[in-house]
Amino acid sequence: MLDSPRGSGHELLDESLQGAPVVVASQPTHTRKLYLESYGCQMNYSDSEIVVSILDAAGFATTRNEEEADLILLNTCAIRENAEQRVRGRLRQFKSAKAERPHLVVGVLGCMAERLKESLLEQEKLVDLVVGPDAYRDLPNLVEQVNGGQKAVNVLLSREETYAEISPVRLDTNGVTAFISIMRGCDNMCSFCVVPFTRGRERSRDPGSIVREAHELYAAGYREVTLLGQNVDSYKWNLDIKGQVKDPDQPVVRFAELMELVAQVNPDLRIRFSTSHPKDMTDDVLHVMAKYENLCKYVHLPVQSGNSEVLKRMNRGYTREWYMDRMAAIRRIMPDCAISTDIMTGFCGETEEEHAETLSLLSEVRYEMAYMFKYSERPRTLAERKFENDIPEDVKSRRLQEIMTLQRVHGTERTLAQKGKTYKVLIEGTSKKRDDQFFGRNTYNTVVVFPKEDAKPGTYVNVKTLSCTVATLIGEITQDKADA
Ligand code: 5AD
Ligand code: SF4
Repeated sequence: MLDSPRGSGHELLDESLQGAPVVVASQPTHTRKLYLESYGCQMNYSDSEIVVSILDAAGFATTRNEEEADLILLNTCAIRENAEQRVRGRLRQFKSAKAERPHLVVGVLGCMAERLKESLLEQEKLVDLVVGPDAYRDLPNLVEQVNGGQKAVNVLLSREETYAEISPVRLDTNGVTAFISIMRGCDNMCSFCVVPFTRGRERSRDPGSIVREAHELYAAGYREVTLLGQNVDSYKWNLDIKGQVKDPDQPVVRFAELMELVAQVNPDLRIRFSTSHPKDMTDDVLHVMAKYENLCKYVHLPVQSGNSEVLKRMNRGYTREWYMDRMAAIRRIMPDCAISTDIMTGFCGETEEEHAETLSLLSEVRYEMAYMFKYSERPRTLAERKFENDIPEDVKSRRLQEIMTLQRVHGTERTLAQKGKTYKVLIEGTSKKRDDQFFGRNTYNTVVVFPKEDAKPGTYVNVKTLSCTVATLIGEITQDKADA
């Protein structure tokens, strides 16, 4: 997609990472035109590919030009308030477009759907259509309903829907890297998080369909897949919530087994995954990662806070010590593995001492990368009901700044430590900054930029790194053996 660090799974390419929203386009072979914008996490981007597949079958071609669209959909994010505000701003623009083109249908998909259906449809009259993340199969009917003169809503959450057999239409693709959604929803109930309300209960997708999708992607030339889920470590197939086997004639597949199955699709297919939860990350996943070269040595393990009391209020289900034990396990089993995290500052009741523990944890771990946020109170969450959002905005901002400043030091240190080494890099495409250069990533997810020579996107090259910026390595193709 971009030659910048990619978002981790469960969260956000929003704010800091994501520039313009990704807008889709494909061959206009059908009669009506769909314009779709996606906001938020990788899961949302992956869902948009399912939405396009469903609407393609119903006769919609996608367009990049909103002015020629018959149907405009925004796949929305509700994780923080500012994500919602961006979407509202966009919807107001479409409202004016609708005044000029009355046949235009505007709809909201994704995480804002459930909570804002009344206000978006009735009060502000910004949209005609509101569809939640488990109701996309119903989209063609709902669009017809709107064309028949009614408003249409389906925000029902499902315990089963995984869209397992729907072949996603790959959007804005570089033809090299793709997402595979392996599970949906989340049962964790972290007290700050809106996801369990917007995306519903956790359910895992049939492993057969996942492996099939990986094979199809490989056959189509893709060389890297990211397995996506809100909490991939709790992936389970053929087990009920109590851990009992459902069908004795079928194999039980947990995340470690799934990783192994996907790793075996082809040694030339790189595999990443996102997001893990520290309380569920087991050593067997780490051992499988260590065993296969094509399982990338990169773990995103959101810590949120370095203080056990804050973690308790967040209902994260682990302490600082537990988390540090997981860090030690990663380093023991894969000494070179890159680690990144998510941090939130200014959660309810966070004291200066508690904040200082987050800083000290950062210094202990020395993450390659971190996604850092100010706490934003979300409706219906446990924190909203139970705690006061009592940290003033300026204090949240100052703490965030402190964390970002420290993380920048660690990030730079990590990039510098990679300088001079030779890496096996999967070429993703032309660098955004220089036409004569390619960019790709090493196994540690660090972006590497280098002169093109005769290489091609979708192939592996060894790159000797000669210099670096804060987060990017700069080098040249070499015949030397790679260090990693
Ligand atoms: N406010 C701020 N950040 C949040 N996140 C989740 N919920 C909130 C919230 N209410 C962050 C967490 C999570 C990432 C996806 O987004 O750090 O890991
Ligand atoms: Fe993704 Fe929904 Fe979370 Fe937004 S709220 S980051 S779309 S899961």
